[in-house]
Amino acid sequence: MSPRTIRCVFLLIIATIIIVVARHEFTVDSVLNKSVINEIVRKIQRLQFENTNLRQKVEIMDAEKKKYLPVKFLAEKNRKRILITGGAGFVGSHLVDRLMLMGHEVTVVDNFFTGRKRNIEHWIGHENFELIHHDVVTPLFIEVDQIYHLACPASPPHYMYNPVKTIKTSSIGTLNMLGLAKRVSATLLLASTSEVYGDPEEHPQKETYWGHVNPIGPRACYDEGKRVAETMCYAYKSQSGVKVRVARIFNTFGPRMHMADGRVVSNFILQALQGEAITIYGKGEQTRSFQYVTDLVSGLIALMNSDESSPVNLGNPDEHTILQFAELIKDVTNSTSVIIHKDAATDDPRKRKPDISKARRILGWQPIVPLKDGLSKTIAYFKAELEQESKNKRNVFLPGDEL
Ligand SMILES: NC(=O)c1ccc[n+]([C@@H]2O[C@H](COP(=O)([O-])OP(=O)(O)OC[C@H]3O[C@@H](n4cnc5c(N)ncnc54)[C@H](O)[C@@H]3O)[C@@H](O)[C@H]2O)c1
Repeated sequence: MSPRTIRCVFLLIIATIIIVVARHEFTVDSVLNKSVINEIVRKIQRLQFENTNLRQKVEIMDAEKKKYLPVKFLAEKNRKRILITGGAGFVGSHLVDRLMLMGHEVTVVDNFFTGRKRNIEHWIGHENFELIHHDVVTPLFIEVDQIYHLACPASPPHYMYNPVKTIKTSSIGTLNMLGLAKRVSATLLLASTSEVYGDPEEHPQKETYWGHVNPIGPRACYDEGKRVAETMCYAYKSQSGVKVRVARIFNTFGPRMHMADGRVVSNFILQALQGEAITIYGKGEQTRSFQYVTDLVSGLIALMNSDESSPVNLGNPDEHTILQFAELIKDVTNSTSVIIHKDAATDDPRKRKPDISKARRILGWQPIVPLKDGLSKTIAYFKAELEQESKNKRNVFLPGDEL
C-alpha cells in the first residue's frame, strides 16, 4: 500500500469517527428531551412508591412474626441433638416442650397416625426445632446424641385398629431406631409400658416381675410388641454396646390426650362434661393409678441422663378403683351424669399400681402433681376441645405454669 493510500484510509477513519461521535451526541441530545426526562421522573416516583410499600410490608411481617416461648441458651458442649419419635403425640409433645425450653435441639419424627401438628406447632420454624414426617418402620439416617423412642399407638382402640402395623411399629420401628443409635453412638430410651406385666399376679408391680401376658389376646399386638422391643434393646446393648434406657410407663393423663382414645380418663371426662352416663366396664373394682404428664416427662429426662440401663417403672402409686375415679371426675366437673356398668373388657388387668422405689432410689424421682390438680387442667383442655367446633375457635395447649 502506498503512503498516499495509507493517508487516505487514515483520513477516512478519522472522518468516520467524527461522524459516529457527532451522531452519538445528537442521539444523547434527543434522549434528553423533555418527554424522556418526564418518563424518567415518573419511573423514579413509581420506584419510590414501591419502596415505601415494601417497607410497610416488612414492618407488618415483623409485627406478625411468630413469637416463641423463650428457650434457655445452652453452650455447644451442653446442647444435645435429641430425636423424639412419636413427638407429635400426647406424651411426646410435652417432652418436646420441656427439652426445647431447656435449650436443646429437638427433632420430631412422626407419621401422624395418632399425633397432631397442633401439639407442636408452636415450635415449628424455631431454629432449635425440626419436624420430619416419617414412619419409623422405614430406616432413618440422621445425626443425634439421644433418642426418645415413643412412636407407637398407645390406646387400645388405636393399637387394635391395625394390630399388624402396631407389631411392625414396635418391632421393626424399634430395630430401626436401635440401628440408628448404634450407628451414631446415641443413647436410646424406649417408652415401654406397664402392659408388659399383663394382668399381674404380683401387686404392686416391681421391675423384677416378668409379667402375665396373654400372647394371643386382642391386646397382644401392643403388650408383646413392647416386650419384644425391650428384648431388642438388651440384645443391642449386650451385642453392640448400645446405651439403652427402658421406661415402663404406667397410665398417664393430661392436656393433648386424644378425645376418642377410649382410655378411662378421656372417656370419663368427656361423658361427665357432656352429661352422658359414665360407663364402667365390669364392677369398677379394678384399680388404676394415674400420673400427670409433666411428672412422666421429668422421669423420662432423669432416666435418659442417668446410667441406669435396666427397666425403671415411671408411674404414680396413688391407687384408685375405677369406681372411685368415676366419682372424682363427676365431682370435679360438677356433672349430673349417672354411673352405669357394662360387661368387663377382655384381658383388662384387675390391678395396676407401680412400685416406684427403684425410680426414687436411682433417679431421685417421684410424682409431684396431685391428681385433682392434674384433672382440673385436663378437664379445662377437654372443655376447650369440645367448644372449638361450636365456637370455631382453635384449642392450642401451650406449656405454661404446669412446668
Ligand atoms: N399415655 C400413656 O398412658 C402411656 C402408658 C404407657 C406407655 N406409653 C407409651 O408412650 C408412648 C407415647 O404414648 P402416647 O400416649 O403419647 O400416645 P400417642 O398415640 O398420643 O403418641 C404416639 C405417637 O407416635 C406416632 N406414631 C405411631 N406409629 C408411628 C410410626 N410407625 N412411625 C412414626 N410415628 C408413629 C403417633 O402418630 C403419635 O404421635 C407410646 O410408645 C406408648 O406405648 C404411654
